[in-house]
Amino acid sequence: MRYNKRELKLRLDYNNMMSSSIGKEGLSEKDFRNIESEIAKAYTVVEAGKGIGMMGWATLPSTQKDVVSDIIATAKEIRKNYEYFVVLGIGGSALGPIAAFQALCHLHYNDLPKRKRRGPKFYVEDNVDPERMRSLFDVIEPEKTMFNVITKSGSTSETMSQYLIIKSMLDEKLGKEEANKHIIATTSKDAGNLIKIAKEEGYKTFYIPNGVGGRFSELCPVGLLPAAVVGIDIEGMLQGAQYMLDISESDNIKKNMPLMAGVLQYLAIKRGKNISVMMPYADGLKYISDWYAQLWGESLGKNLDLDGKPCNVGQTPVKALGVTDQHSQVQLYAEGPFDKVITFIGVDKYRTEVKISDGCENFKDVNFLCGHTMNELIQAERMATEFAITKARKMNHTIMLPELNAFTFGELLMFFMLKTSYTGALLRIDTFNQPGVEEGKKATYALLGRPGFEDKKAELDKAQAKQKKFIM
Ligand code: PA5
Repeated sequence: MRYNKRELKLRLDYNNMMSSSIGKEGLSEKDFRNIESEIAKAYTVVEAGKGIGMMGWATLPSTQKDVVSDIIATAKEIRKNYEYFVVLGIGGSALGPIAAFQALCHLHYNDLPKRKRRGPKFYVEDNVDPERMRSLFDVIEPEKTMFNVITKSGSTSETMSQYLIIKSMLDEKLGKEEANKHIIATTSKDAGNLIKIAKEEGYKTFYIPNGVGGRFSELCPVGLLPAAVVGIDIEGMLQGAQYMLDISESDNIKKNMPLMAGVLQYLAIKRGKNISVMMPYADGLKYISDWYAQLWGESLGKNLDLDGKPCNVGQTPVKALGVTDQHSQVQLYAEGPFDKVITFIGVDKYRTEVKISDGCENFKDVNFLCGHTMNELIQAERMATEFAITKARKMNHTIMLPELNAFTFGELLMFFMLKTSYTGALLRIDTFNQPGVEEGKKATYALLGRPGFEDKKAELDKAQAKQKKFIM
């Protein structure tokens, strides 16, 4: 599909980050001037890094022609032959597929009759709650299900345990030969166990390119295959992402939206704003907040800077949904501590319009709603909340999507990945590692007896022994 770039460009309104809107709580032009050289350096670091090392994700929109063709062909076969598509993965191997599905498919997709769906029913199993696994078995039919096992490391306990359960169930129900046609592996080409298993069993396999970390992987087969299966225009997503990359080429902060957003957030962090709230006003964008929470939290939450000196930086991501959370969290945002930056996401044109019906003529306080649309109502509520938060002098800014489609969704993903990279560069940390996550993974291996983790088990036993005194 062709998209009109200019009409679909995202906009960033950062008026309410500035002192002109929120007084002394806000930023001034001087704040930007004071860090001009830091900004220039962060820009250069990100620009030079694109496509290199752990920034392999920054060239994905233009380097996957053959992969995309394979994905589209595979997705077509899956749509023809399967009624259920189940992703087994966690963290970066699940949150992108969930966000894209929610953003770009019918909001009650799985409940639609088959003829109205663009693909099989879709499930992402990103937990190891036994009740959830059992519930999945109650709603799928194994002989009509394709499983996509996604793990970059090829060894994550959660995903590999799910794989073992599914594989044994399929073998038992369908026989080994048929079972192997129901599993697609998405993993690293040359690391971990899944690739070895996939080769041994003869699974169709897609590769996660080197330099693409879990939380930066939605635009590679991790996200593209599940998206294509449910009928999302993955080429449109990549075009949108490329457009945002093009925008990020400018070294002029006033023209480079992700750079501006990264700098704003950096300046806010420096002023002690330790919480980053993401509040989209669209149900379709509800789970982009989960994806962002991982991206922002894992990338910036670090204890050492690039010189190896302690820094303990980061900003805690918080998820909210407009308008739902106006009736839950906004009281805190307005009147609570000055420790947050709120990112609103608005949509100019929703994909449908719903008129508020006439009625209640004798009740003026209800009847005023008649003649309006839900579209007007949600816009009014977003603007009203922005107004209230700004009046309370809390830092906030708004990203506007002209509409929500594959192109703008791709733009948004790339916008956040670039913004995160710029903020990480300004903070002078390694944006792309996650030693804190790895530590937990290793401890799980140790607790469950994985060979090679005996020392970690001893460390855990020692730590647990110490804790016993304080158990009630
Ligand atoms: O961002 C990351 O790298 C991690 O959070 C991973 O996405 C997560 O731990 C899952 O890892 P894997 O894809 O290796 O199973």
